[in-house]
Amino acid sequence: MIRIAAVGDVHVDKDVVGRYRPALEELPDRADALLVAGDLTRHGTPEEAACFAREFGGLAVPVVVVLGNHDHQSDRQDEVARVLTDAGITVLEGTSTVLEINGHRLGVAGTKGFGGGFSGACASNFGEREMKDFVGTTERYAAALRTALQSAECDALVALTHYAPVPETLVGEPLEIYAFLGCYQLGQAIDDAPTALALHGHAHHGSERGRTPGGVPVRNVAHPVIKQAYNVYQLLSDTVDAQLVGA
Ligand SMILES: [Fe+2]
Repeated sequence: MIRIAAVGDVHVDKDVVGRYRPALEELPDRADALLVAGDLTRHGTPEEAACFAREFGGLAVPVVVVLGNHDHQSDRQDEVARVLTDAGITVLEGTSTVLEINGHRLGVAGTKGFGGGFSGACASNFGEREMKDFVGTTERYAAALRTALQSAECDALVALTHYAPVPETLVGEPLEIYAFLGCYQLGQAIDDAPTALALHGHAHHGSERGRTPGGVPVRNVAHPVIKQAYNVYQLLSDTVDAQLVGA
C-alpha cells in the first residue's frame, strides 16, 4: 500500500508559518509522500514561496506540488518554482515524477490546469481571438497533463492539478463560476491514462469527493474543504479514503 497525504490552497505568507508545521512533523508516521495541489502562496512572490518552503519543506517524505493561480499573481511563477526546487520540493508542470515507496513505484503527473467549464456549459474554441486564446490555454494545460500521465512508468498513478477535472467536487460553489474552476478536458486526460486517483484544489467552497466519467476517484483537497492540515489517501488498496484523526 502507498499512503499519500494531500492538501491544497494553503496560501502561505509570513503569518501562516508555524500553523501547519506541528501536523506536518507527524506526517511521516502517517503517509509516504505529501502532494500539494497549488495555491501555495497568496500572491505568488518568491518571499511567500520561501515561507511555503520553510513550512512544508524538509520533511522526511518527498513533497510534490503544482502551482495554482495565486502562485501566478505576481508573474514570478518561475522564481517561485525555483525557490521551491532549491528547497528540495518537486514542482510539476506538464511533467511527472516517480517515487519509490515500499517497493512500489508511485507516479505523480501534474499541471496547474485552467478553467473552461464542463459538459453543457463550457467555453468553445470559436469567435473572438480572446475566446480562442482562453480555450487554447485550457487545451494546452490538458494536453500537458495527458502527456505527463502517459509518460510515467509506475505501479500507481496520481494526477495532481490545481483546477478541477470534474464538476462534482465543485458542488457548493456558485454554478455561475464553475467554468472558472476547472474543465472537462483535464478529466478526459485523466480517463485516458491508468490513473488511480486525481487530486485538485482551487474550489474552497466545493466538495471533497467526485469521480471522472471513466470512474477515477477525484478528491478536492483544498484546505477549506478538508479542514485539516492534510488528508491521507491509500493506493494499491481496497479503498482510496483513509481515516485520519487529529491532523
Ligand atoms: Fe486557486
